[in-house]
Amino acid sequence: MLLVFLLNLREGWLQAKGCWDLEGCFSCPQDELREQLTCFCALKLVSAGAKTAARPFEYGRTHVVRPKGRHQATIVWLHGLGDNGASWSQLLETLPLPNIKWICPTAPTRPVAVFGGFPCTAWFDVGDLSEDGPDDVEGMDASAAHVANLLSTEPADIKIGVGGFSMGAATALYSATCFAYGKYGNGNPYPVNLSAIVGLSGWLPCSRSLKNKVESSQVASRRAAALPLLLCHGRGDEVVLYKHGEKSAEVLRSNFQNLTFKTYNGLGHYTIPEEMEDVCKWLTATLGLDGSCS
Ligand SMILES: *[C@@H]1O[C@H](CO)[C@@H](O)[C@H](O)[C@H]1NC(C)=O
Ligand SMILES: *[C@@H]1O[C@H](CO)[C@@H](O)[C@H](O)[C@H]1NC(C)=O
Repeated sequence: MLLVFLLNLREGWLQAKGCWDLEGCFSCPQDELREQLTCFCALKLVSAGAKTAARPFEYGRTHVVRPKGRHQATIVWLHGLGDNGASWSQLLETLPLPNIKWICPTAPTRPVAVFGGFPCTAWFDVGDLSEDGPDDVEGMDASAAHVANLLSTEPADIKIGVGGFSMGAATALYSATCFAYGKYGNGNPYPVNLSAIVGLSGWLPCSRSLKNKVESSQVASRRAAALPLLLCHGRGDEVVLYKHGEKSAEVLRSNFQNLTFKTYNGLGHYTIPEEMEDVCKWLTATLGLDGSCS
């Protein structure tokens, strides 16, 4: 059962491979059957070992795409489960957004519950790719802090944002809630001023506690209302189901009033040029980019 589930998920990622490669998660041999068996064995081994090791996780390599024109904004872009920063930096480099500097970090490799403990690059532990899952607040805080640190040294006149795909989108949305609330889940102050959030094919983690947190403070409500969010989701997404994306947008919209939700017929768990065009237009308008290359 678990194996079948895993392979179905893998299927979704393979579709996503159209634009970029997956590394880090499945380093199994090519042969399909051997791949299944090796993954399954590795999974068993890791879930046995995971209980004893409780080290802090190390983040992977960060790739930076320099702006081709005048630098006006910096966005940290977060990859999905099992992917890495390099693959997205290659795609982002091709976008007609000369005023944006992209920072593409790589998540730590860690055991992930949705794979029965199989190690993957992941921004936090997850048992269920939806807004209903239990929340690894510690893992999300650590990743949101890693992102904020990457942005904290940007000059004051540069607008900053966070975006991502799938679990990266979930982490971007978690960062948005920390920014609005002014604090991480652990109570430490959130240190940067976000101007834009983009989430593709993702979901909102911690949705149960969001409402209370944001509504409990006028400052938080005002910050949430003023922060522009763009969420995009394929109606054919079988990995992070469309209904979860839609539900997340609904929950968010009650606080984050400047939220745009775009949907794409027939789109699965991957991106297409039409979607990236929408992202470019939205970022250019929202961040007031001048769009020139010199
Ligand atoms: C945060 O950024 C917004 C828009 O870029 C700006 O209006 C606001 O003054 C900034 N706030 C702080 C505390 O820097
Ligand atoms: C959303 O935010 C953008 C950028 O700050 C702004 O231009 C736009 O007017 C806002 N839209 C709404 C409905 O508040």
